[in-house]
Amino acid sequence: MRGEVRVAGVSFRYAGADREALSGVDLVVPAGTSLALVGPTGSGKSTLAALVARLYDPTAGRVTIDGVDVRDLDPEVLAAIVGVVSQETYLVHASIRDNLLLAAPSATDTGLWRALESAQIAELVASLPDGLDTMVGSRGHRFSGGEQQRLAVARTVLRDPRVLVLDEATSALDNTTERELQAALDELVQGRTTITIAHRLSTIKDSDQIAVLDHGRVVELGRHTDLAARPGGAYAALAGAARPAVAP
Ligand SMILES: Nc1ncnc2c1ncn2[C@@H]1O[C@H](COP(=O)(O)OP(=O)(O)OP(=O)(O)O)[C@@H](O)[C@H]1O
Ligand SMILES: [Mg+2]
Repeated sequence: MRGEVRVAGVSFRYAGADREALSGVDLVVPAGTSLALVGPTGSGKSTLAALVARLYDPTAGRVTIDGVDVRDLDPEVLAAIVGVVSQETYLVHASIRDNLLLAAPSATDTGLWRALESAQIAELVASLPDGLDTMVGSRGHRFSGGEQQRLAVARTVLRDPRVLVLDEATSALDNTTERELQAALDELVQGRTTITIAHRLSTIKDSDQIAVLDHGRVVELGRHTDLAARPGGAYAALAGAARPAVAP
């Protein structure tokens, strides 16, 4: 699998909703490249990300990976190809080792430590008396939200998906947590096809493509420098980069 993602003529309406959450969306994300989704609240960013991970099926159109409709992929195969990193982490009440082995049952301890390192959490785990055997969850060690997220990133590193769907944190984490998590994510995205619901300017600026959504439609598509330079453009307005159309 190379990991090219295509969204072709996709519309989607939630059950019972009176309007479409996505309308006629066309996007191509070449293998190994990045797409940032931006747009106002309710514009359809999370819905689009959910369709790529096949949490829902489109009402019209299709989502393909390397030309194969995701509906035609075995769910287990799809889960191995598409990794989702969201603000909600799903760690189970088990040891760190078992949480990680869920993603890669045959990984060695060396492999587990390498994953923890790239997720910027190895030092903390190494400092715990039980190390990899530390229990996660309500009756285990009380990991902070940021630490749990980095453990989840380590699990995704082990799963090694070709395609990553990333939901960046909107709310300000404290500075250290933010820096550590971002370093973990920056390492995770290397070499993968990445679709990010982006809030950080650095993610947006460095993306190969930015899709600006509004009311379920892609209203602008391009790179940061091109979009920011469009006077009166949707991206320019969002980025607060709008310059007066007429010089004073
Ligand atoms: N489960 C649902 N059932 C019905 N409507 C939904 C559901 N989830 C989202 N919607 C609607 O679909 C539209 C798109 O929502 P979506 O969550 O994709 O927006 P978003 O761009 O991710 O917004 P935000 O920036 O606030 O996260 C909105 O009008 C929203 O109210
Ligand atoms: Mg959302």
